[in-house]
Amino acid sequence: MNESVACERPIGVFDSGIGGLTVLRELRRRLPREDFVYLGDSARVPYGTKGEKTVRHFALEALACLNDREVKAVVVACNTATALAIDLLEARSPVPVFGVIEPGVRAALARKGSRVGVIGTTATVGSDRYAQRLRALDPAVEVLSRPCPLFVPLAEEGWVEDPITESVAQRYLEEFLEWGAETMILGCTHYPLLKGIIGRVMGSGVGLVDSAEVLADAVACLLEERCETSSREREGRVEVLVTDVPQRFARLSEIFLSLRLDDVEVVDLEAFSSSLP
Ligand code: DGL
Repeated sequence: MNESVACERPIGVFDSGIGGLTVLRELRRRLPREDFVYLGDSARVPYGTKGEKTVRHFALEALACLNDREVKAVVVACNTATALAIDLLEARSPVPVFGVIEPGVRAALARKGSRVGVIGTTATVGSDRYAQRLRALDPAVEVLSRPCPLFVPLAEEGWVEDPITESVAQRYLEEFLEWGAETMILGCTHYPLLKGIIGRVMGSGVGLVDSAEVLADAVACLLEERCETSSREREGRVEVLVTDVPQRFARLSEIFLSLRLDDVEVVDLEAFSSSLP
């Protein structure tokens, strides 16, 4: 492939479902001329309640599917897939792979205060990856991690400013308040949508870290370094692939991306099992 054509290849973004659109939103803001292929595994979501072996297998199939679309980089927007499979994806991918944990950890440590709270799915918190990376980079940091599984369906329902969501948040976050968290890592794709409520419950003195912004910067820097940014004049396009219920995606993309994405293709990820890298 000649160099100019290589630059115009899309960036692949993968999530268990629609939550990764919060990451895509930030990537498009930072890299407006890039084309994106967004893959949401809507048939098998949620990943957050599944085991490591299953999530690793699903993540490899997603990687094969995106590489089949000739992407120039892969962003694993899903925290659960990053927590359980990033090592495998990095080892097997022919193009650079970005996960959401490393940028989130670095953004949290860049803030002042040594008490970092981590909230995520049951699988992400169970993997302990956020806490391990935080402690590896700063042995003095104190970490409290807890799963908040109800936040995912509440965000998908669009109840982002609702009294029910607020009381669920109070229940989940009480322990972090008592503990004296100074920073909270929103370690799940859906939680940035609940930033308003989480921020109110935690109070203005507590910093909320959403890794999407730092991640978008890291992707932009690497593409610039490799001279692989697109030189096209128009705004980049988004191609959407899901594994089931495309109509639901179109509705939810308005909540997550403030953009209605009606042109949704259904793909069969199991078909990529035989071509796993
Ligand atoms: N995308 C997942 C994550 O960020 C949340 C939804 C799920 O459980 O699959 O962990």
